[in-house]
Amino acid sequence: MPGSVLAPFPALRMRRQRQGEWIRRLVRENTLAPSDLIWAMVVHEGEGRVPVAAMPGVDRLSVAEAALAAKEAQTLGIPCIAIFPHIDGATKDPEGSHAADPDGLISRAVRAMKAAAPDVGVMCDVALDPFTTHGHDGVIRDGRIANDETISRLVEQAIVQARAGCDILAPSDMMDGRVGKLRAALESAGFQDMLIMSYAAKYASAFYGPYREAIGSGKLGGGTLANPLDKATYQMDPFNSDEALREVALDLSEGADLIMVKPGLPYLDIVRRVVETFSAPTFAFQVSGEYAMIAAAGAQGWIDPSRAMMESLAAFKRAGCAGVITYFAPVAATLLGG
Ligand code: PBG
Repeated sequence: MPGSVLAPFPALRMRRQRQGEWIRRLVRENTLAPSDLIWAMVVHEGEGRVPVAAMPGVDRLSVAEAALAAKEAQTLGIPCIAIFPHIDGATKDPEGSHAADPDGLISRAVRAMKAAAPDVGVMCDVALDPFTTHGHDGVIRDGRIANDETISRLVEQAIVQARAGCDILAPSDMMDGRVGKLRAALESAGFQDMLIMSYAAKYASAFYGPYREAIGSGKLGGGTLANPLDKATYQMDPFNSDEALREVALDLSEGADLIMVKPGLPYLDIVRRVVETFSAPTFAFQVSGEYAMIAAAGAQGWIDPSRAMMESLAAFKRAGCAGVITYFAPVAATLLGG
C-alpha cells in the first residue's frame, strides 16, 4: 500500500471500520473455526480420566474415554485428534521396546477411536520418548542418540500405528532422514495413502515441560522434568530461523505431506517464513507449556483465559497456519459453536 495513495486523504479514519461488531466482522481478515483444530489428547492404560496437574483442565483419558472423545470431536466439528500415550513405568526400558507393540496402548486407542468415529482423523506421534526410561526420543549408544538405529525402530512403530488404522503419522523425533525411510517403508507395506505430518521445525524448548508430566516421561538423564537442553543434540536451537527452512525443505523432499512448526506462539515468525517459502499445508503445535501459561494465569484471575485462548488461536491463523494442534480444541470448538 504505497503512502502516496493515502496522502491526499487526510480524513482517513481507521476507527470507522471498528465502530460496531457487524463491521468488524465484515472486514475481518482471518477466521477461526473448529475445522482449524487438531485436538491434542493424552491417553493412559487405566480407567476413566486422570487430571494432569501441570495442565489444569486437561485429563489423561482411558481408551474408552478416548473413544467417547472421538465422538465428541465429530459433534464439535473437530477434524482430527492427535494422541500421546502415558505409558506405565514398568513397561519402559532404555530401548523403548514397547513402542512397536501391536497391542499396545496407542494401537488399542486408535482402533477404539476409529470404531467410534470413523470420520474423525487420528494422528499418532512417531517417537520413542514415551517408551524409554530416560525420556529421550532415540536409543542411546556411547552416550549419544544413535540416529539410524533409532529410525529403524521408528519405522517399526509407524507401521504398527498404520496397521491399527491411524490416518496421519507424525514423526516428532528430529532424527535425520526419518521421513524418507518412513515413506519408503509405507510404500512397500501398502500404505501409499498414509499422510505424514512432519515435526519439521521442532525446537529444543522449555515449553514442553508440562507434557513430560502428562505422559509420565523420563527425567532426561540427570536433568529435571523440565530440562529442555538435553534434547539439544537433535532438536533445533531457538536462535535459528534459516535452519528451519532447510529442515522443512528436506522433509518435503523426503515425502512429508504436511509440515509442523513447534512450539507455536513463540515461533510464529518461523510459521510465516515456512508458509511463504513452501506453500505447503503448515501447522503449529500450541504445546503444553503454552497451554499451561494461559490456564494458570487464567486460574489466578490475571488474564481472561477464554479470550487469551481465542487470541492465541487467531494469531496462528494470521501467521498462515492451515491448522493448530492444541489442548484447547474441545473448549475452543464449543465456544465457536461447533
Ligand atoms: C516427543 C514429543 C514432545 C512433544 C510432542 N512429542 C516432547 C519433546 O519433544 O520433548 C511435546 C508436546 C507438548 O509439549 O505439548 N517426541
